Amino acid sequence: MNAIQIYGGKRLMGQTRIQGSKNAVLPILAATLLIDGTCEIENCPDIGDVRHMIRLLESMCCKVERIGQTVKVYTNQLAHCDMPSDSVCVMRSSIMLLGALLARIGSVSMQYPGGCVIGSRPIDLHLQGLRKMGVTIEEREDGFYAETTELTGAFHRLPFVSVGATENLLLAAVLAKGETVIENAAREPEISALCDFLTKAGADIEGAGTSRLIIRGVKSLHPIAYRVPADRIVAGTYLAACLCSGGEIFLQEAPCTQMQSVIQAAEKMGAKFAESEEGLLVICKDRRKALSKLQTDSYPGFPTDLQSAFLTAMTVAEGRSVMEETIFENRFRIVPELRKMGAHIQVKKNLVVVDGTECLQGAVIQAEELRGGAALVMAGAVAEGVTIVTNRHFIERGYEDICFDLQKLGIRCQKIDYPVIDT
Ligand code: UD1
Repeated sequence: MNAIQIYGGKRLMGQTRIQGSKNAVLPILAATLLIDGTCEIENCPDIGDVRHMIRLLESMCCKVERIGQTVKVYTNQLAHCDMPSDSVCVMRSSIMLLGALLARIGSVSMQYPGGCVIGSRPIDLHLQGLRKMGVTIEEREDGFYAETTELTGAFHRLPFVSVGATENLLLAAVLAKGETVIENAAREPEISALCDFLTKAGADIEGAGTSRLIIRGVKSLHPIAYRVPADRIVAGTYLAACLCSGGEIFLQEAPCTQMQSVIQAAEKMGAKFAESEEGLLVICKDRRKALSKLQTDSYPGFPTDLQSAFLTAMTVAEGRSVMEETIFENRFRIVPELRKMGAHIQVKKNLVVVDGTECLQGAVIQAEELRGGAALVMAGAVAEGVTIVTNRHFIERGYEDICFDLQKLGIRCQKIDYPVIDT
């Protein structure tokens, strides 16, 4: 079984460069399908989910070439083909292909998307929105067939904030006939990046970064080169590692302006920061203080993707902390693993109450999903002794090389194959 072995108990010291953003690049790769020609995506992280997205693009006869950190997508041969179901089912972002493919080739047959096991993750908002834009959708038990003769602009008011539905409707709208309005749109920086990419390619979008997007359909888009912004969630994960273990680290290229809710939460726990264009300096000297309440929310609130990492920091903070998860109903899956390491945590529906302890103990623990898995590695870094986090592949869906990054921050850790012993 693939795993990560961490020798914990050391303060962090050093610097590392933050990779390109997973949540920005996946919809942008889907958006290249809207463009006839060759797009160059720079600063494209080499992570599991990007490899799956590339495989999906290739299954539609796109040619995709990686040269270092740049991925070139040639879409001129785009054709209707069966998508490999393992890549569709492994990640939620495969649903992004729906809006783009309907715009380019008018029909799509696909299985329901997968992703981390953090909640029910329905796609009803995506499908309802597309129906309003002239798409006929037949649902089956394991997937659906969607078809349109012409996408038409429509008015959408999302009943609650959804990152995925906002992105999908945006992708469907840029080449649709007429005007589309998306109210109560998600305001995540990754949506602004998608708007930026599309606008540079010739789309007409007003309100990027706000909760009201107005998209006026254009006839076609043109090929461009685009640089993917740095990953605020990866930067936040290493910030949380410093909160856990103490020390002083510099996160090169960390997108500080997108990280304000995270920085504020960490400041309340006692961390100090220096923000600059070059990145983020994080200093944690004394033992961290508990946080009476931290609640996840859509942007600009505290991101659900950093809930597990901060929960881990709370386990070693002084006093009682409370974390409330408001986006997904099943996102406390790391709690049993943290308990094995000596953490004191009680779960009450979507709240967890954490009584901080001086130190965690190394253990063999299991990652079950991407962000929770990374948080367990952070727990290993603060724990006394050796920790083994199994199922490394979940973490590799979103982190290019977490061991390399942590080594640069002064933590001894390595990738290993952990033997599974039959009993
Ligand atoms: C969500 C997070 C995003 C995070 C990603 C991966 C928010 C608002 N979204 O994005 O920050 O990076 O997970 O962890 O923080 N929903 C429906 N029907 C739909 C679509 C969504 O009921 O058709 C519900 C979901 O179950 C969830 C909420 O809406 O409770 C937000 O989901 P959404 O933002 O769409 O999820 P992701 O795009 O995966």
